[in-house]
Amino acid sequence: MSDERALLSVRGITVNFAGVKAADDVTLSINRGDFTAIIGANGSGKTTFLNICTGYVKPQAGAVYLEGREITALPPRNIARQGIARSFQIPQLFTDQTVRENLMLSIAAREGVFQGFTPLDRPEYRAEADELIALVGLQSVADTLTGTLPEGLRKLADVTLALALKPRLLLLDEPTSGVSALERFDIMNTLMNALRERETTALFVEHDMEVVRRYADRVLVWDTGSVIADGLPDTVFADERVIKSVLGAV
Ligand SMILES: Nc1ncnc2c1ncn2[C@@H]1O[C@H](COP(=O)(O)OP(=O)(O)OP(=O)(O)O)[C@@H](O)[C@H]1O
Ligand SMILES: [Mg+2]
Repeated sequence: MSDERALLSVRGITVNFAGVKAADDVTLSINRGDFTAIIGANGSGKTTFLNICTGYVKPQAGAVYLEGREITALPPRNIARQGIARSFQIPQLFTDQTVRENLMLSIAAREGVFQGFTPLDRPEYRAEADELIALVGLQSVADTLTGTLPEGLRKLADVTLALALKPRLLLLDEPTSGVSALERFDIMNTLMNALRERETTALFVEHDMEVVRRYADRVLVWDTGSVIADGLPDTVFADERVIKSVLGAV
């Protein structure tokens, strides 16, 4: 890749699901250090884009590069090892385990220790889990089963699991969905501090335009599998096409 700042690049990626254009010849780069928002109407291809970047969906055409190295054909697990982690639209926590236990599992997975008879509760995993818990302020619920957490804390715990993988690029699918308007800013503030501290580049899909306006360095606007606008939040929100395609529909 010629662009030195690009952490992730996609070139000409195309995905059709039975005639539905979920990605239509998309070319773009994500710069190191940026916090980039993806917005767009329901079904415009936002989650599909994250799925392509993480290897869950393979494009019919085009390529994905991480720091200039092609990763298009790699399985999701290998892509995660290369440094791309994600959280899902619906949290993927083990609901019958505590926040700390979930984190220790994530740390063990990163280290390649998956299961069997290897104890996951090792002092070094516990110490690292507690560091992450402090980073996002979840100390008071460290021993709480994630299934009983209120939605806001559950979403935060889910994102922290992805952070435990020490990604270079973190992809977040609607980190504040299902969370009350007031709590959203708390979550985002915590998340932004954690990302800065860990020097992690992130991309997040978001439906709340106020969250996007406050936190995003850059906004990519999706419409029927294409990026129809790309720029600073204020510039993008003033764009006629964006107003019609997204803001009118939100
Ligand atoms: N695995 C799949 N099989 C078939 N069609 C799919 C699949 N995944 C996505 N689609 C379709 O591709 C289009 C884009 O879906 P995608 O989930 O990427 O949208 P989205 O922008 O994330 O929407 P939302 O805001 O509702 O989460 C939709 O029409 C969707 O129905
Ligand atoms: Mg989606």
